[in-house]
Amino acid sequence: MDSFDDQLKVLHVTVEMAPLVKQGGVGDVLMALPKSLCRHSVDARVLLPAYPGAMECVKNHGYSCSPLAERIHVALDYKVYSAKVYRAEVEGVPVYLLDQPELFTNPNVYPHSLSHASMMPFAFLSLAALEIPGCTDWKPDIIHTHDWPTSIVSLALRWHKHYRALRSEYDVVITLHNLAHQGIIDPSIISSWGITKEALSIEGLEYYGQANLLKGGMIVSDAITAVSPHYSWDIQTPEGGFGLHGVFSNMKNKLTGILNGIDYDVWSPKNDPLIPAGYSMDDMEGKAVCRKKLIEMCNWNDDGKPIVTFVGRMVQQKGIDILFTMLDWLMIDNCRAVVIGSGQPQYEEWAHQFSRTYPDCFWCFMGFNDEMAHLAYAGSDITVMPSLFEPCGLSQLIGMSYGSVPVVRCTGGLADTVIDFDGSPDGTGFLFSDYSTDELLKAMYRAFDVYYDKPRWQKLVRNAMSADFSWNKSISSYIDLYRKLKSGDWGNKDLSFET
Ligand code: GLC
Repeated sequence: MDSFDDQLKVLHVTVEMAPLVKQGGVGDVLMALPKSLCRHSVDARVLLPAYPGAMECVKNHGYSCSPLAERIHVALDYKVYSAKVYRAEVEGVPVYLLDQPELFTNPNVYPHSLSHASMMPFAFLSLAALEIPGCTDWKPDIIHTHDWPTSIVSLALRWHKHYRALRSEYDVVITLHNLAHQGIIDPSIISSWGITKEALSIEGLEYYGQANLLKGGMIVSDAITAVSPHYSWDIQTPEGGFGLHGVFSNMKNKLTGILNGIDYDVWSPKNDPLIPAGYSMDDMEGKAVCRKKLIEMCNWNDDGKPIVTFVGRMVQQKGIDILFTMLDWLMIDNCRAVVIGSGQPQYEEWAHQFSRTYPDCFWCFMGFNDEMAHLAYAGSDITVMPSLFEPCGLSQLIGMSYGSVPVVRCTGGLADTVIDFDGSPDGTGFLFSDYSTDELLKAMYRAFDVYYDKPRWQKLVRNAMSADFSWNKSISSYIDLYRKLKSGDWGNKDLSFET
């Protein structure tokens, strides 16, 4: 246990934190990571915009919440914006919610296009992070930012005409959840935030004549973490670097991959209030009850065929093209499929078409529904994730916990977390390498072969269910990183520039 003076103080600055604001896996991680840090005696707190619905969610969950006496003021675009700040206690994590109804209006968080106006909420949030000590009695040692929306924190500490004076007071970590989105904007926008033009050099934001917030943010952060070790290697290649692989060549010594975990308080079939019957590795009876309920929900008859599920965003990254092409070939004779998620209209339309063509074996729900997601994992046999790229992926980890065996493409975090059953008696699922329908199909057939060989299937399900992806493991890597930063042992702090 840390002594009081020694205690690490970390502020996570984020646009998502489940259940208050959630668009995808980032929201889950930003709940589970700070929660686990708090349980490991780190004073971890979160700064989050009160997007529409967030305050209601605080209330509905019965989290304690009260306004701070001081407001936060940030100068932006030649005027002062201020926000009321609420302090809520979410699952033991102190969360500062910024109530700024003029800026935080988009319930979908991420805008369709990045313009002067649509970038304002992200600039406000990032600069507000540096005002937190002024309106609370608390000052972090480390500011932990996530993806491009909050990379403006480190940019401000280097190049903001006012905030750069604070550079030596904080260490900044940036976590890469998805390099596909980089916050590429018109360079003229940054001056309205108070960031000077020096930031636009090649060693800063400059990117083919535009300003790349993620690139600049990484360059001036003290440490960069990717959400899995494999992803930290993938992004250094031309195929996985989304145009930034060259940038990493100068930053290798401050880049590290730390695997995400899942929160077993939420994702454990033994005590999951959202499924009709609990079960565990040693007593699988409840899984049959869940299967029955899932089959009823889909209005099918159970003929014993394997049930395959996909829960996630229907976007190209997730491999929907090869997934749907494969399902079209497989469906009638071989399996049933449950798809839950929403995304690009062409994929949603494809899914709707499948439900009409294959009502007896394909079922989809367009959107996100917690209860259905839990039932889909619990009632299914296989969780499929044929991702084109996958920084970490949470669905395969949840699938394993529920004994829904993962069939995944060998990329990013999927490669770090799934062991092929044909290659090892400790295997937990099935992997394929090339991004093609044929390869996915072969992996799926390997899974079906084992499915019909009950003793082998039981062994595989047992292996999957006993795999441990709790945050406990990764949290020590984060704590180690924070400690090294705080004590100066990390060795990457660059204070050589003039303030
Ligand atoms: C993004 C990535 C996903 C990762 C999640 C949380 O959604 O696409 O792979 O698990 O962030 O880090």
